[in-house]
Amino acid sequence: MSKPTWRNEITNIDPYIPGKSIEDVKKEYHLERVLRLASNENPRGASPKAMEAARQSIEDIQYYPETTAKELREGLAHFYHVSSDEIITANGADNILTLLISAYVNEGDEVIYCTPTFPTYRSTTLLMGGVPIEVDLTADWCFNLDTIYEQITLDTKMIFICNPNNPTGTIVSTEQLLAFLDKVPDHVQVVLDEAYIEYVEDNDYMNGIDLFKKSYPIITVRTFSKYYGLAGLRVGYAVAPKEKLEPVLRIREPFATNRTAIHAAIAAINDQAFAKSHLLENKREKVYLCKELKALGYEVIESHTNFLFVYLNMDSVSLFKGLLPHGIIIRPATPWGYPNHARITIGTREQNQLLVELLSSIRAETSTY
Ligand SMILES: Cc1ncc(COP(=O)(O)O)c(C=O)c1O
Repeated sequence: MSKPTWRNEITNIDPYIPGKSIEDVKKEYHLERVLRLASNENPRGASPKAMEAARQSIEDIQYYPETTAKELREGLAHFYHVSSDEIITANGADNILTLLISAYVNEGDEVIYCTPTFPTYRSTTLLMGGVPIEVDLTADWCFNLDTIYEQITLDTKMIFICNPNNPTGTIVSTEQLLAFLDKVPDHVQVVLDEAYIEYVEDNDYMNGIDLFKKSYPIITVRTFSKYYGLAGLRVGYAVAPKEKLEPVLRIREPFATNRTAIHAAIAAINDQAFAKSHLLENKREKVYLCKELKALGYEVIESHTNFLFVYLNMDSVSLFKGLLPHGIIIRPATPWGYPNHARITIGTREQNQLLVELLSSIRAETSTY
């Protein structure tokens, strides 16, 4: 067989396995309606004001957007009380993470994080010729900052802390995070990935933007895809000292955040009433879904997000396949190395009820064998 002509590093990167698409499931099973509880999207959608802003932006679609998404950066700066120079936006948080790793990691540099977690830390590190150093989560599924610290060497370039962590929904405590940040050596860049920050209500949690305001030299990554329901528009951003963003600005494509995304995102942060109602619903539904799943005999890890990491005590791909003909998509944790776990997005009451009913009939069928 001939050698691939690809860049060498790509041979080490496994293809990303996305959640199954709604379109594919509709087509495959001839369904009108498909419910995806697999990608942590907002079941209520985006704010009507964000949708109206998106519609209006279409009028100017022939024009490139403003290169640096200035208006959005200013909106975010106002919201967080930071300077707009301390914010960079891009085509989703995933794009921000890729840009950060591309801007910082040289061949041979080590990048440390815990697993299971968000896969981009690994794939982009490998692409840059860096060395992923993967550390297990703690026994209670949290990022293990003690072990991460023990792994730091002179070659360590970056550390990623996914807080809350995807797929486990767990957080690190304020005390643990501060103790860790206070001792991390200066040659290491810490990045906090806070894609699910808006769902965290635990008082024992310190977020990256507040830490940055206390002069911790960290980079915080966030997204409009989850809480604000704009996954389809792709808006992510990073907040950090200006000089930390400088290399990212040099390599980011000129119009990385599109015109529609910019306008919808501004309207979304300005509609906090809509966002808060989603938060309340998520909180209520988390309690409901956890209770029902536990009643069915599943183990559910305490979540600080809009999804649950569930131990099914059966092959999650079989369950996933069993749910598809009924129009429900969940996310088996098999690609993370946990074949008996699944990640399930918290839906509306109607959606959650439907899921629970199906799970209980599947349970009943399997227990009769
Ligand atoms: C932890 C984490 N970081 C980053 C992202 C990427 O988000 P975006 O949709 O903004 O690219 C996700 C998306 O699932 C995520 O779970």
